[in-house]
Amino acid sequence: MTLQVSLDLTPNLIDEMLDALVEQGWYEWPQAVSQELCEALLAEVEQYDEEGELQRAGIGRGDAHQLNKEVRRDQIKWLDGSTEAQVLYLKQMAELQYQLNRALFLGLFEYECHFALYKKGDFYKKHLDSFRGRANRMVTTVLYLNPGWQPDWGGELVVYNEESTEVLATVTPELGKLVVFMSEQIPHEVLPTHRPRVSIAGWFRCNNSIAGIVDPSL
Ligand code: OGA
Ligand code: MN
Repeated sequence: MTLQVSLDLTPNLIDEMLDALVEQGWYEWPQAVSQELCEALLAEVEQYDEEGELQRAGIGRGDAHQLNKEVRRDQIKWLDGSTEAQVLYLKQMAELQYQLNRALFLGLFEYECHFALYKKGDFYKKHLDSFRGRANRMVTTVLYLNPGWQPDWGGELVVYNEESTEVLATVTPELGKLVVFMSEQIPHEVLPTHRPRVSIAGWFRCNNSIAGIVDPSL
């Protein structure tokens, strides 16, 4: 299998993305990742699902578990670079990290990401990926792996302004689309989906010292 290695990081697109991140805190990039690579990644998730290798996200015991199910219902698997497609995707994110550091001096040095499968009815309520001052997750990426997504299938990513009062955008989870946003700044949610919906959510971190604290919810 020969897969495309690089993101389509033309100077214009990089500038557009960096401006948007600074000014709005988020950026939507349709067709950022090649169809071929997305299809290979999607096939992996489908196989993990069949083999029962996906896990309930943020699973806890008792009340915590119950609360979690009210907040998010997706099933996940962390990427570990064990397939060619994963290696290529991680390389592309390394390229993105380089560009972010070069222009914004964010000091990002680590990237982690997981596949997420939202089955019919699944959602993720409004939340922030990181709290200010905790200085761990700095920039979030979400890549979508869903071919031919229809507007009435639900499952949109809703992006809110910093005060969480105004909807900035409603993003359909189409194959190849990459959304990038500031983790501490942008509240967001996944609306209930009517079809299986697959994404790769990832985070650039600036330090690893409190890696146990992840995914606080608003
Ligand atoms: C997350 C998340 C968004 C999406 O996993 O934290 O917000 O569209 N995912 O899958
Ligand atoms: Mn999130």
